[in-house]
Amino acid sequence: MSNLLKSSDLSTEKIKDKLKGSIGRNILFYERIGSTNTIAYAIAEETDEGTVVIANSQEKGKGRLGRVWISPPDKNIYMSIIIKPNLISEDVTLITLMAAVACTRALKRLTDLDIRIKWPNDLILNDRKFGGILTELKIHKKRVIFAVIGIGLNINVDINVFPQEIRDISTSILNETGKLYSRSEIIAEILDEIDYWYKVLKEDNRLKILSEWERLSCTLGREIKVIINRNTYFGLAESIDNQGMLMLRLSSGELMRISSGDVKVL
Ligand code: BTN
Repeated sequence: MSNLLKSSDLSTEKIKDKLKGSIGRNILFYERIGSTNTIAYAIAEETDEGTVVIANSQEKGKGRLGRVWISPPDKNIYMSIIIKPNLISEDVTLITLMAAVACTRALKRLTDLDIRIKWPNDLILNDRKFGGILTELKIHKKRVIFAVIGIGLNINVDINVFPQEIRDISTSILNETGKLYSRSEIIAEILDEIDYWYKVLKEDNRLKILSEWERLSCTLGREIKVIINRNTYFGLAESIDNQGMLMLRLSSGELMRISSGDVKVL
């Protein structure tokens, strides 16, 4: 792709022209916003599923575990997708795994890069993170009312503009390829993949999602460190169960089921 892409590489018209599925037919675009997830969450109940909120920059981009997601203008992808799956609260991790699979497949196709998923939803290139997913939910009586899938991807940013501590563990598609990519094209490709994998989720074909996630994972079969609420655990990432939870084999031989935590592959 061209080295001369300007911020016009992001436009709702271009995204809609390329879309084949129904996710993303309704797009709300903001030049600058606090967080696409916050807006999507606020409107989700009165809005059709498949609606997508996209921003060119975020001032309060949210990451997992209360972290900040650095969201400079004109370079990256910040989007939140509203869905209303018929799921019980125990199964919600499947939403995030499904989105990670969709993003990875779309980006691999467009860039030919060896993109991998670190449990549950970090997108990794050469051991560095370039993308993440933050799913926020409204649940009533143990059933999902709606889910907001927030996707942040470092695409055309030079990672050297990020603070040192982030730079050491992060990358971008630009840094890995030396090329600039059209954000509209990437977004359309991801939305179409999500359209497909969301149908798989709705048919409760979870094994298909889990086995594709396993195929793309860089976590399984590796020694890892997991931090959960200030406690640190070491062990072998043995498998994921049918709700997407990580099964960690501790050195004591005990199998630990992990629903959320910060994973480092050793
Ligand atoms: C992570 O920590 O790995 C998750 C990062 C998720 C960032 C995205 S950017 C679009 C959406 N809006 C937000 O405020 N966060 C998510």
